[in-house]
Amino acid sequence: DATDKGEFRHYMMKEIYEQPKVIAACLEGRISESKVLTSCFGADSGFLKEVENVHIVACGTSYHAGLVAKYWIEDLAGLPCSVEVASEYRYRKVAVPKNTLFLTLSQSGETADTLAALRKAKEQGYLTTLAICNVPSSTLVRESALTLLTNAGAEIGVASTKAFTTQLTALLITSVAIAVENGLSAEKEQALVNAMRSLPAYVNAALLQDEHIQKVSDRFANKHNALFLGRGAMYPIALEGALKLKEISYIHAEAYPAGELKHGPLALVDEDMPIITMVPHNGMLDKLKSNMQEVAARGGELYVFADRSTNLHSEDNIIFTEVPKVEGILEPIVHTIPLQLLSYHVAVVKGTDVDQPRNLAKSVTVE
Ligand code: G6P
Repeated sequence: DATDKGEFRHYMMKEIYEQPKVIAACLEGRISESKVLTSCFGADSGFLKEVENVHIVACGTSYHAGLVAKYWIEDLAGLPCSVEVASEYRYRKVAVPKNTLFLTLSQSGETADTLAALRKAKEQGYLTTLAICNVPSSTLVRESALTLLTNAGAEIGVASTKAFTTQLTALLITSVAIAVENGLSAEKEQALVNAMRSLPAYVNAALLQDEHIQKVSDRFANKHNALFLGRGAMYPIALEGALKLKEISYIHAEAYPAGELKHGPLALVDEDMPIITMVPHNGMLDKLKSNMQEVAARGGELYVFADRSTNLHSEDNIIFTEVPKVEGILEPIVHTIPLQLLSYHVAVVKGTDVDQPRNLAKSVTVE
């Protein structure tokens, strides 16, 4: 029952812990032993063969999920993908190339700007409109040609958690489905499906760091600013980590692609500025390590989230948190978990209203 907090003090924590289960629910019936089942898009899955471009439009946390999908769609399918916040999209002249898919992301399906963007898009000659949404009876679902439900169950905490990770899961399914029609080999599809099947267990493993992250959070109680860094698909996760911290702990947080550090934010770094870094284990590892050295050399305190194979560990001004080692494609989803836990525990330490942060609404149905 979504309205029962059970053993948890806040809905947000309950929803964080529900993620292994709801991610499994999101995958259910959408993948077979070896394939993504295109029937999940309904009878009209023919668009998958025709799509040549993707425009993603959303707000808030859903927008961050869209930013991750850009990396997946361009990487796996080789198709151009652009991502925009709905409040911008709705008021500008947009250029729509032939055979472009219009994809909206929304937890509630009632966000006014996203609905307005969809209504505008319907006049722009798109190939079709697809909504990835958590509420089957929502306006967005009703007004879109196609829907992929995220199946996360009702989310009550204003700060979105399980809705976000199931959006990412649904986006991964969609990205692979498009990629299959654009030259992705059967072996690669098989490997991606295997990885997806492991996702609930990986998220469970990430949750095991809860106690450690709670201890780390104490160090944030008197901070006024924080900087989140990520590269590649971890950059949107850095944006989402910063948004979560802002929303519920009221600490000013910004996110930067780590390579941009030297173009401005480095000037802010001193011993009072915690720097949170998501370190994936890929070709960018050494580059990220050198970004971290730039921070350490200026006395900044680094909070590093990485798997053990990176050989990173806690030392002088590095506080290390282990994240399970997973297939690269899944890193954005799995790295989200510790950041949710961090913002939750910081908010609890600060004594804010975790589930109902000041000035914010769960769903913004007016402009
Ligand atoms: C509000 C919520 C956010 C959410 C955003 C978009 O600002 O507080 O958590 O990400 O709306 O909502 P949607 O329902 O469209 O995903």
